[in-house]
Amino acid sequence: MCGIVGYTGSRAAMPIILEGLKRLEYRGYDSAGIATMQDGNCSTIKEKGKLMNLEKLLASSHLPGSMGIGHTRWATHGKPSVSNAHPHQSDNIYLVHNGIIENHKKLKASLEKEGYTFLSQTDTEVIAHLIRKHYQGDFLEAVMAAVKQLKGAFSIVAMDTMTPQSIVCVKKESPLVIGTGADEHFIASDIPAVLSHTRDFQFLEDGDIALVTPGSVQIYHNGVLVERPVKTVSWSPSAAEKGGYKHFMLKEIYEQPRAIRDTLMGKHDDGEILLSDIHLSDGDLAAVERIQLVACGTSWHAAMIGKYYIEKYAAIPVEVDIASEYRYRPKIINPTTLVVPVSQSGETADTLAALKDAKQLGAKVICICNVVDSSIARESHGVLYTNAGPEIGVASTKAFTTQLAALYLLALFLGQKCGHLKAKDIKRKFKAIEALPEQMEQVLSDEPRYTEFARNFHNHQDFLFLGRSYNFPIALEGALKLKEISYIHAEGYAAGEMKHGPIALIDKEMPVVVVATASEVYEKTISNIEEVMARNGLVIAITNPDNQLSGAVENFVVPEVDEELSPLVNAIPMQFLAYHIADYKGCDVDQPRNLAKSVTVE
Ligand code: F6R
Repeated sequence: MCGIVGYTGSRAAMPIILEGLKRLEYRGYDSAGIATMQDGNCSTIKEKGKLMNLEKLLASSHLPGSMGIGHTRWATHGKPSVSNAHPHQSDNIYLVHNGIIENHKKLKASLEKEGYTFLSQTDTEVIAHLIRKHYQGDFLEAVMAAVKQLKGAFSIVAMDTMTPQSIVCVKKESPLVIGTGADEHFIASDIPAVLSHTRDFQFLEDGDIALVTPGSVQIYHNGVLVERPVKTVSWSPSAAEKGGYKHFMLKEIYEQPRAIRDTLMGKHDDGEILLSDIHLSDGDLAAVERIQLVACGTSWHAAMIGKYYIEKYAAIPVEVDIASEYRYRPKIINPTTLVVPVSQSGETADTLAALKDAKQLGAKVICICNVVDSSIARESHGVLYTNAGPEIGVASTKAFTTQLAALYLLALFLGQKCGHLKAKDIKRKFKAIEALPEQMEQVLSDEPRYTEFARNFHNHQDFLFLGRSYNFPIALEGALKLKEISYIHAEGYAAGEMKHGPIALIDKEMPVVVVATASEVYEKTISNIEEVMARNGLVIAITNPDNQLSGAVENFVVPEVDEELSPLVNAIPMQFLAYHIADYKGCDVDQPRNLAKSVTVE
């Protein structure tokens, strides 16, 4: 999830692009760069770290020209560094890119054979060389030919030193808009970047390729010229940062289908799970006898579900630990122990310390992480990135569900390496998880019901959340989400454990949220629900369309999916419940009191 800004007009491009990039900085980035063009010459400046670093360099440099492109990078391929920062170049072609080129390795190998030299570790550089390869004097045609060879989801904004004042941009499942001014055009991945210059935008559709000059925009779809209407945006700049959503948390809840697609992208080929950054040999993997998953908070809940996945598909015993507990307990570790830290930020102090302890004791370490080149990613022997994109809301949402998808992939991968799963099993299971984003979209479309629920339930002092098996950690997650953003006391319990204590809490005032979707333990869960109803508890059920519970005060319906994948779908009602109650109460949803996004202290 990178930020892109482009400009072609009659004003100096650099300040407009820099200002645009600054307006995207709320998303957090790791490097940035700008290239501008004048008289067929391109000047580029790139820097690692925050935009401020680039700005300092720009203060003492000159980037002339009234056309240019800029980029803030959220690393996916290759660590944050000057050489990996965009724009990337191939001879006369300069470009910036957002997204992932799934087949970049194959393309890179064949381009290298043809003599192209790569200066970065990015997938982006492949696009620049590919456009150069197809270039025969017509820039637009070269881009069109190159795009045909690219697989994945991406947006590209490119310039050619031989084609003055023209920018070519491409959109495929990654946002890109074109803003219109007086004899000038702005291109941006996000509206806020250029909202101070224009409110009139053309929204490109997937597959569109546009040739943009100061006075014109020509948009092609499958080679045919098409019209995209100019729409006027009425958002305030802060609403625009949130894509029109009231809070980042809500935006990130809605981003989950896209985020899961990005987690899965490039990870499967014809019955084989491909985890290229794991960096452990087949011998190392076959030798694994025990796995320890360590994490904090929401990531710990994901790890708990990961245990079910790995034990089911790879038949390797898994322990799950809260990192702050793991650190201070005696550890039985040897080279056949695989330790898997799970962390969104990659900077959580306890998880990082647990990782270091495990490594010192001789364990192999593969982390599941969202932030590329974070401390946890760097310290681990191998890494599986979740590719959720920046998560701004303090309460974790898309980071959680992408962690689940990553753990599922890891389990399938280990299952295959240990000989427990055959190619046909992998194909079937991958197909099931690939179908999830669409099923998640169905749950998202039910949001208005949660607003109504919040109105009726925001005054309750306590909530109980119950679930079994794969959905026990979802009950824990539901309770954590509610307490952290709405400040209502909530407890999550394994439904079967309720009668060992928490049942004493149940009376006619107690809302009990129960995950009762199709599973091998469905009947057992129903018995627990009856125990709650018998004590006049207020049952709020997460159910499938055919299993709605007549005695429940609410049935939130989600599509029926494989039991092991149901946590990814069932997490959404938990997020909506917490979000709408907190919002109804007027709480600061994105920055709840006393909490920080990245807990870098013990
Ligand atoms: C809750 C939440 C926290 C984090 C925890 C670990 O919504 O976000 O519980 O999950 O602080 O953070 P990471 O995953 O960055 O290690």
